[in-house]
Amino acid sequence: MTRLNLDPKRWLDHPALARETYIRMANEGILMAVLNEAGALNPMTVGWGVFGWIWAKPIFTVLVRPSRYTYGCLKAAGDFTVNVQPEDRKDLANFCGTVSGRDHDKMAELKLTPLPSRRITTPGIVECPIVFECRVVHHNDILPPELAPEITKQFYPEGDFHRIYFGEILSVSVVKEFLEAIEQCTVPLDSK
Ligand SMILES: Cc1cc2nc3c(=O)[nH]c(=O)nc-3n(C[C@H](O)[C@H](O)[C@H](O)COP(=O)(O)O)c2cc1C
Repeated sequence: MTRLNLDPKRWLDHPALARETYIRMANEGILMAVLNEAGALNPMTVGWGVFGWIWAKPIFTVLVRPSRYTYGCLKAAGDFTVNVQPEDRKDLANFCGTVSGRDHDKMAELKLTPLPSRRITTPGIVECPIVFECRVVHHNDILPPELAPEITKQFYPEGDFHRIYFGEILSVSVVKEFLEAIEQCTVPLDSK
């Protein structure tokens, strides 16, 4: 298995990569991983995020609720990885999105292996074919008075308003064989 390191400013030159990342994020969530205070990696499933371009940088914007263990870890860590699992490992997002790193070693329980990062301290996850390394460059809290009331009603009945983290994507790595396979996939144009 060979890992390719893509230029983070050019990763969207591979539309299949963006498509795969968004499909996994929308369907079952992808894995944001942060180091805890003991130096152990804690993956958490995230479904709400945006890959884009801000401040002349490739940025991943992600919403994290204060009640998550990840929230406190992120404050101290300053960087994180975003790991896209293969389609046949939906169990990873399910587990990492339903148990907390406060009382579970998710990496050990799922038998996952940390992947040393190239540009940041936080490792990625070997079993995930796409790994983004992100440095926190900004965060901001949702302002309840500025939020559309129906969104507050639907998504924040108990408060716990998200903090929005902006991560500069410093490195993108992808398993070569995986990239070749998804680039061969064709998207059906007719939805009938
Ligand atoms: C599909 C899915 C998507 C999720 N997306 C988010 C998200 O974008 N932001 C968030 O704060 N929590 C999200 N969660 C909830 C966390 O993943 C969940 O509460 C997790 O157990 C927190 O782990 P932690 O306590 O180790 O940080 C999601 C859960 C699932 C199942």
